Amino acid sequence: MKRIALLGSTGSIGRQTLEVARAFPERLRVEALAAGSNTALLEKQAEEFQPGLVHVGEKGPSLEEIATHPDVDLVMVATSGKAGLIPLLSAIRNRKLVALANKESLVIAGKLVMEEARAHNVEIRPVDSEHSAIWQCLQGEKENEVEEIGLTASGGPFKDTSQEELAKVTPVEALNHPTWKMGRKVTVDSANLMNKGMEVIEAHWLFGAPFDKIKVVIHPGSIVHSMVKFSDGSIKAQLGEPDMRLPIQYSLSYPERWENAGLPQLDFASLSSLVFDPVDLDRFPCLRIAVEAGRAGSTYPAVLSAADEVAVDLFLSGKIGFIDIARLLHDVIEQHHQISEPTLEEILEADAWAREIAQGWSK
Ligand SMILES: NC(=O)c1ccc[n+]([C@@H]2O[C@H](COP(=O)([O-])OP(=O)(O)OC[C@H]3O[C@@H](n4cnc5c(N)ncnc54)[C@H](OP(=O)(O)O)[C@@H]3O)[C@@H](O)[C@H]2O)c1
Repeated sequence: MKRIALLGSTGSIGRQTLEVARAFPERLRVEALAAGSNTALLEKQAEEFQPGLVHVGEKGPSLEEIATHPDVDLVMVATSGKAGLIPLLSAIRNRKLVALANKESLVIAGKLVMEEARAHNVEIRPVDSEHSAIWQCLQGEKENEVEEIGLTASGGPFKDTSQEELAKVTPVEALNHPTWKMGRKVTVDSANLMNKGMEVIEAHWLFGAPFDKIKVVIHPGSIVHSMVKFSDGSIKAQLGEPDMRLPIQYSLSYPERWENAGLPQLDFASLSSLVFDPVDLDRFPCLRIAVEAGRAGSTYPAVLSAADEVAVDLFLSGKIGFIDIARLLHDVIEQHHQISEPTLEEILEADAWAREIAQGWSK
């Protein structure tokens, strides 16, 4: 029986994690639930799973207390934005098993997080479907024999939308993802490929891969979740229906594979046409901006992530247009004076600075 703490239980990943827990009551015990504001749903979840620890808003034990509690074996970090970073670091320092959905933590402070993970001998289990795929492809392989990582992107709802039409995109249209049902922030990030840029940074830190070796490729079907090419030219890929419950389950079951408890499955005969296309960086500048910030390192990725949280909020509340998100990110990053080898405090200061500049941004 693994005792899990679920940070972000009311969100898309959180709710799907509870579906997995519901399917494996003899293997998983939900020991802690934490959410931001959705008290009504959290209460229902607590009634069903009877966790020992519950946090919502400012009430109950803090996220760090939950992430370090002796009754918890594994912490699933499924909060959105930067809220997951400090509890993630606390869980690692307390040598908990960690399943990580919250990619922003690695974007903001990937170097510090991975240094802590190495120092405390903690393996971070990726939940993001692409990183789960890469993780699975790398098992049993040598790091120096990895030639390239192929990070797949569905292309989102605007894959074929012209530059002119992108300028008119509404929040409702941006929230309508063709293959994945996710939280609002990650859905907008997926529509302009910012999410893919953040995933490149996430893959860089998780797998120690140089940016030059991580290639984004458009794959509209979202069946191949990612692939790895090795030195002999051989490619390994992981495939599955676009359903987050599978990578969530694997992050909880690893190193075992549990049975499929009713999740949709592919059959070999349906794999006759797998389509891949190159990515168009002119129409999706957020991808380029994110990867450049990742390459530049220091405090740039933290600034990128913070400014993006603000930009997505501004877009969803109708204050800026869809293509303004990239302009805002570009302008905030341009104004930033980087701090090399930043401490956690300096990273959090850069985050706060970026939020303030982004809030005041105008075209
Ligand atoms: N959804 C996906 O399919 C998917 C796939 C891959 C990766 N991810 C990543 O997983 C993370 C979660 O995504 P999501 O789509 O599940 O987001 P979401 O639906 O917006 O859910 C976010 C969760 O975090 C909670 N939360 C936010 N701020 C909090 C705080 N300060 N303290 C405690 N809880 C807080 C929210 O609580 P309330 O709602 O109660 O306020 C909610 O439970 C993101 O980093 C995302 O990039 C998601």
